[in-house]
Amino acid sequence: MISWHKLSLLLLLDCLSFSAAAAADTLYLGESLTGNRTLVSEGGKFELGFFSPAGNGNSSYYAGIWYKQIPVQTVIWVMNRDLPLSDPSSAELTVAPDGNLLLLQNGNQTKKPIWSSTNSSYARPSVGPVVAVLLDTGNLVLRGNSSQRIAWQSFDHPTDTLVPGGRVGLNKRTGEYQALVSWRSADDPSTGWYTDRVDPFGVSGQYTFLWNGTTVYYYSGAWDGQRFASVPEMGISARYRYILVNNDEEVSFSFEVADPSTLSRMLMSPNGQYTMYDWSSKSGGQWLLHFATPTSPCDVYSVCGAFGLCDAASSQYCRCLPAFDAASPPGDWSGGCARKTSLHCSNDSASTDGFLPVQNVKLPSRYITDADAGGSAGDCASACLRNCSCTAYAYEGGCLVWAGDLRNIQQLTDGDAAGSNLFLRVAAADLAANSNHDGLSTSDRDAILVASALAFLTILCCLFSVVSWRRRRGAQTVWLDGSLLVFSHGYLVRCTKNFSEKLGMGSFGSVYKGTLRDHTAVAVKRLELGGSAHGEKQFRAEVRTLGKIHHVNLVRLRGFCATARERLLVYDYMPNGSLASAMSGPSFGLLDWGARFGIMAGVARGLAYLHEQCQERIVHCDVKPENILLNAAFCAKVADFGMAKLIGREFSAALTTARGTVGYLAPEWVLGLPITSKADVYSYGMTLLELVSGRRNRDTGGRGVGYFPLWAASKISEGQFLAILDERLAGDADMEELSRACNAACWCIQQREALRPTMGQVVQVLEGSLRVGAAPVPRHLELFCAEDSRTL
Ligand SMILES: *[C@@H]1O[C@H](CO)[C@@H](O)[C@H](O)[C@H]1NC(C)=O
Ligand SMILES: *[C@@H]1O[C@H](CO)[C@@H](O)[C@H](O)[C@H]1NC(C)=O
Ligand SMILES: *[C@@H]1O[C@H](CO)[C@@H](O)[C@H](O)[C@H]1NC(C)=O
Ligand SMILES: *[C@@H]1O[C@H](CO)[C@@H](O)[C@H](O)[C@H]1NC(C)=O
Ligand SMILES: *[C@@H]1O[C@H](CO)[C@@H](O)[C@H](O)[C@H]1NC(C)=O
Ligand SMILES: *[C@@H]1O[C@H](CO)[C@@H](O)[C@H](O)[C@H]1NC(C)=O
Ligand SMILES: *[C@@H]1O[C@H](CO)[C@@H](O)[C@H](O)[C@H]1NC(C)=O
Ligand SMILES: *[C@@H]1O[C@H](CO)[C@@H](O)[C@H](O)[C@H]1NC(C)=O
Repeated sequence: MISWHKLSLLLLLDCLSFSAAAAADTLYLGESLTGNRTLVSEGGKFELGFFSPAGNGNSSYYAGIWYKQIPVQTVIWVMNRDLPLSDPSSAELTVAPDGNLLLLQNGNQTKKPIWSSTNSSYARPSVGPVVAVLLDTGNLVLRGNSSQRIAWQSFDHPTDTLVPGGRVGLNKRTGEYQALVSWRSADDPSTGWYTDRVDPFGVSGQYTFLWNGTTVYYYSGAWDGQRFASVPEMGISARYRYILVNNDEEVSFSFEVADPSTLSRMLMSPNGQYTMYDWSSKSGGQWLLHFATPTSPCDVYSVCGAFGLCDAASSQYCRCLPAFDAASPPGDWSGGCARKTSLHCSNDSASTDGFLPVQNVKLPSRYITDADAGGSAGDCASACLRNCSCTAYAYEGGCLVWAGDLRNIQQLTDGDAAGSNLFLRVAAADLAANSNHDGLSTSDRDAILVASALAFLTILCCLFSVVSWRRRRGAQTVWLDGSLLVFSHGYLVRCTKNFSEKLGMGSFGSVYKGTLRDHTAVAVKRLELGGSAHGEKQFRAEVRTLGKIHHVNLVRLRGFCATARERLLVYDYMPNGSLASAMSGPSFGLLDWGARFGIMAGVARGLAYLHEQCQERIVHCDVKPENILLNAAFCAKVADFGMAKLIGREFSAALTTARGTVGYLAPEWVLGLPITSKADVYSYGMTLLELVSGRRNRDTGGRGVGYFPLWAASKISEGQFLAILDERLAGDADMEELSRACNAACWCIQQREALRPTMGQVVQVLEGSLRVGAAPVPRHLELFCAEDSRTL
């Protein structure tokens, strides 16, 4: 027998859990959020409630707004960033009768206010009760129940994140700022060190980034109507529109996305870089970095804190100076590093401290020139020892000394970069521990004192001779040239296990897998040199230019090695290999249309960047699926750009004879005409046809269609896009995107250069912001058709 009592209890429980699950977007007067109750915006995009940042052990809770539909906790707004709650079930977020939103901590019979929307002076009886509504833009607004007038909104008080609809800037009338202020660290939302500000004195409409509210470390450059001068990445994609308003009322910056279903956010990150992310639902979902500025984290003021050393070449870019230990919890470098042993300070020259050389660094600014120290490096050292507040010195033709905390020391590791040696004052115990000189560990302090000046010179000499000895020997060394690593040949031999793991064979050499000492996987390309290769010096100059090119859709060059006999290039390793190998594998059928279209658009953006955006315009010359690599998230990265510069005169000969390249070469190569960026457009068009159809253009037969590109172009001109779509997709493609891709491809492979679009235009066509009709069928392919049937 069923117990009716039990049944009704079950029913009641059902009702209860249902009412908890059916989250509303509105908080009415007298209602409150507590524990795990949340508001969900009408479209289901955002959620408001209590959260604990992932990774902080659930000891601190905050009220905030996050994306509801994605699996990675991503908070865009925090209400009580500096006053965490210990337990969400004793916290209460409520609309108070005076028309304010209140966050209360319920204590032992008391309610302590933690946070309040500032006096909104809105609770006039005429407009009725006030409600809090979470909008689908991620904006929490406080407004009249019946009127739409907004009394307060979270978009006016951003935390560290800007989303479409919000803005940052200055209200010129009230002087009020709406700035993004970084979190302290990735799992600590409390007020961090970095913020943006409108430049009060400089270029009108320019933004600056500040450390600790005072120290400017970055200027955005002037606004040109579409982007800031120092952030060329902003001009690349037509998916975003950036807006700067600069009038008598305000200076404000905001952005829009063309496709409102895209999740995009701009963030002042805890390490002081302004970053833009797009959500990609590929491979389980992740945030993809669209750009970061400043590009190198080491250009951010005090990014590694006091006595920290920034090394852009390492993935963990912060470390402590010798004789120092990290002072903050892992992941937070703002506290910098602390001395292992405190200095022995003394008024007269009786200090037992000594100096450790920190080699080849960019010196911190804010030194004091000690003119009195005069004469020699030794005088400079003793001048520093005499002053208790002196922490380091350098001798650069004169004596430079530093007092107090040392910040912004950047590791450079290249012989010919403008590196300096900094002499860091450390306690005697640390000096002994770091110098490997057992003989110095005597108890005779006076001897150490006298010896300390000599000791560092000896150490210095030793280190210099070791370095030059190593260079002569070609032993395992790495140093830095600008942003590029320079590897010794020995180092690369070791990290590739004597070139044993071959990843592939390109037009100009083979590529091997390697692992750097910090466990970063890299791809090492061993260039095959013809007789007329550039000299070492010119090669270095060209590589340096390439090293400066950074774009999400270009494979990043990490470093190189140039010896008399060998030229090696070291790139980021791409786990999913090349598009060519992906297409020949069985899993290619699994790449859905969305992923393929993402690859098409990514390649187009990368090439558009090379052609139109970077300082030295670069024609790739060898665009084909073999040179398009896929990272772990199947984001496309164009490889092998800039080869013409590196190879020199033999480039075109090497290219035109390379296997598997012919079908992509524009007619101007064959005709011996000058090569422009339109040659890349042609090759891109051929690649695009392959991606759409899932087959290689040079494979003949199969459908009995003759030379595939010609057949495809004629189908496209008839509007029969589905006819060329990969059969494995079974027609499952976005028809609008398919038609854009097909039409773009057909325009790209026109014989006449003038008819081909630029890569920038291709990006716009793919993104849908530029519309094109059907292209004429490229009749010159008929020639190919006849030739190919013989040669292939
Ligand atoms: C919310 O909290 C209640 C009580 O603490 C619990 O029973 C319920 O399962 C929670 N709901 C969710 C979705 O976590
Ligand atoms: C934090 O809370 C989540 C769910 O609320 C739980 O799954 C997780 O195990 C907790 N982590 C710690 C470290 O307590
Ligand atoms: C709450 O207050 C009561 C009486 O004032 C006291 O006995 C009790 O210890 C308090 N509890 C806490 C957790 O402070
Ligand atoms: C609101 O205004 C009143 C008086 O104008 C002031 O006493 C109070 O502190 C203000 N509250 C907040 C949260 O600013
Ligand atoms: C406020 O909104 C609720 C729900 O729409 C409605 O029932 C109520 O009558 C409204 N109150 C006023 C004063 O408008
Ligand atoms: C940051 O600024 C505050 C106020 O201007 C100042 O008191 C503090 O010393 C600064 N912090 C550091 C680490 O310089
Ligand atoms: C340095 O000397 C001054 C006076 O000569 C004295 O007052 C001060 O305490 C001394 N400081 C140290 C650290 O010895
Ligand atoms: C020590 O150095 C600090 C900072 O350079 C300077 O202000 C101070 O006068 C110096 N003290 C002596 C005794 O030279």
